[in-house]
Amino acid sequence: MTDYSPLIDGVYVLAVIFFILGLRAMASPETARRGILAAGVAMLLAVLVTFLVGGLTNNFGLIAIGIIVGGGLGWYWARVVKMTAMPQMVAVFNGMGGGAAAAIAAVELLTAVSDPTNASLSIAGAVIGSISIAGSVVAFLKLQGWMVQRAVVFPAQQVLNIIVLVAGLAFGVLTVVQATTVWLIPFFVLTLLYGILLTLRIGGADMPVVISLFNALTGIAVALDGFVLVNGVLGDAGYAMVVAGILVGAAGSLLTIKMARAMNRSIGSVLFGGFGAKEEVGGAIEGSLKPIDSDDAASLMAYANQVIIAPGYGMAVAQAQRKVKELADALEAKGVSVRFAIHPVAGRMPGHMNVLLAEAGVSYDKLYDLDEVNGQFATTDVVLVIGANDVVNPAARRQGSPLFGMPILDVDKAKSVFVIKRGQGRGFAGVENDLFYKDNCRMLYGDASAVVGRLITALEHS
Ligand code: TAP
Repeated sequence: MTDYSPLIDGVYVLAVIFFILGLRAMASPETARRGILAAGVAMLLAVLVTFLVGGLTNNFGLIAIGIIVGGGLGWYWARVVKMTAMPQMVAVFNGMGGGAAAAIAAVELLTAVSDPTNASLSIAGAVIGSISIAGSVVAFLKLQGWMVQRAVVFPAQQVLNIIVLVAGLAFGVLTVVQATTVWLIPFFVLTLLYGILLTLRIGGADMPVVISLFNALTGIAVALDGFVLVNGVLGDAGYAMVVAGILVGAAGSLLTIKMARAMNRSIGSVLFGGFGAKEEVGGAIEGSLKPIDSDDAASLMAYANQVIIAPGYGMAVAQAQRKVKELADALEAKGVSVRFAIHPVAGRMPGHMNVLLAEAGVSYDKLYDLDEVNGQFATTDVVLVIGANDVVNPAARRQGSPLFGMPILDVDKAKSVFVIKRGQGRGFAGVENDLFYKDNCRMLYGDASAVVGRLITALEHS
């Protein structure tokens, strides 16, 4: 029989190099597309070459069906998904990874539970994979609006959660110690249940951190499974899975930490805090909402020296990015300096605003992140907030607010602030926005695309 090991090892090393280069390229929107392509090619190579690994003669048909059905559904969904629904899709894709890791662990436990090393690794992979898939399904349902979005909190919930987790782990330990498969059903039921209970308690604004955390967990579960397969059917070829899992685990962990920092939340408080369970009570905001019409807003902007545009989720909903670019061009043609203030969690996914503005052709050097731009608002004539709410809510500076501590764009410090939104809708965290009631703030009501269109027309005539 031909020994393909050198070829297999070579291709896996190549795949790993492509994974790393791909990850690196994803650090900037300019090169991200290339990065995705590199990682995709790496995955394809790794999957194809696995067919050459000896001992996999059974089930080729089933594997092919899995690849065609799974690949087809993934390809179709990724093509039709709206940009605003991307977080849900990421949640489901993560969940699938966790589910696959749990399923591999289950098969290993059913076939080789007597090997204590493999059984321990499989149980660890199964715990993490089960929590990840069950939690990701709940995250998907919440983000899709198919179940209540706020944190679901009830009495003695933490105690119940701990009991469920500890009982699940106990069945896992029994499985390893007694080298038996009889405890596997209660083990999986309880670990899946824990994933559901854990995520139920997490609400609103913390969901992106959770999805990223599940992504990291999925990577770790895959790496653990990789070790199991190194000891079993794949031999050394399993190390490709270990490396891929570790890369996902490390990148996902870093992203989780960075996002939690951007929202000023600790991972512990995200997971166990029940943030957003209650509406903020008391503390009625002083002042009133003061509308302005687009002609007046346009002429004030035309006479400004600097305008900073702060986009948010509403710009994505309205798909207004191209009009926003047109507006920026029209202002610049009148000699106004225009910059964009980008909050790291504006929108509904990391880099959401960067992606949309890049698609519209806004050059990167006009995009300023939170730290760079916050010192500039005080000397800015006009800030135009387009469909952003939580990320510009000064309530985040007030102790007692559910947003307290979240770093925000300090747009309220500018001389004038114009806010484009359709009505009285609150932001993702469900917290009333102090900014809208301030003396220097005016509301431009309407769909972001329509309002920006009116501003452009008004500028042309001013
Ligand atoms: P949000 O706080 O969600 O506010 C969006 C605002 O846009 C709403 O107040 C809404 O008010 C307005 N809007 C909606 N559709 C509009 C349209 N067609 N035209 C004009 N306005 C429209 O957005 P944000 O400030 O970008 O903050 C993002 C929030 O989402 C944060 O809480 C963040 O933690 C959370 N989150 C972020 C992510 C990531 S990673 N970015 C993922 C999930 C969740 P009206 O209804 O009155 O129009």
